[in-house]
Amino acid sequence: MSQATGSDTHQTTTERDVAESQPRTAATDSMRRHFLVAAAATTGAVGVGLAAWPFLASLRPSAKAQSEGAPVSVDVSRLEPGEQVTVLWRGKPVWVLRRTPEMLERMTHPHWIDGLRDPDSEVTTQQPPYAQNPYRSLRPDIFVAVALCTHLGCVPLFEPQAVSRAFDDNWMGGYFCPCHGSKFDLAGRVTKNVPAPTNLVVPPHRYVRPDVLEIGIDYA
Ligand code: FES
Repeated sequence: MSQATGSDTHQTTTERDVAESQPRTAATDSMRRHFLVAAAATTGAVGVGLAAWPFLASLRPSAKAQSEGAPVSVDVSRLEPGEQVTVLWRGKPVWVLRRTPEMLERMTHPHWIDGLRDPDSEVTTQQPPYAQNPYRSLRPDIFVAVALCTHLGCVPLFEPQAVSRAFDDNWMGGYFCPCHGSKFDLAGRVTKNVPAPTNLVVPPHRYVRPDVLEIGIDYA
């Protein structure tokens, strides 16, 4: 099984992960591990549809701006329910997922909660205070997380469907890290008995307009 490493964060390809995706092969899963990065503008709303990719590429912040942590804007109104995009912030991939009501309901299932290591996000280094809630987000439907496993930094796979999988007979949907088998739910909460010690990191973010997310800047 191939690994995605920290060096993958410098890739500039892009992909959208869709909940109702086609059946995957080992090759497509490998491609997905090479997370798809859409660089966005430092100011203004940026669409996230595939059709907008050339436009996004034209607005990619300079390497200097990225290294300095320029914020990244995403127009979340362009995301379909269940759809996820990956943007690049400070050289790291960051997921933006629009969760469906059914996904949100799944995350509160008592059986699933019992299997989480830190269901209440008590490790405060892993999210800003405003994301220390059951959905680990400002808006329940929009999840934002740094797409790096908290074990050794691989990029986990987006596995949103609640179906039995080879790595978990009772999979409730979330993220699976193929490097050493860590599992996270659709709020980035790590399960028990896996190598990853903590939940995924939620980066600072805010909404500058109702549907325009800005990653990299907190509410002051
Ligand atoms: S890097 Fe993800 S489980 Fe080891």
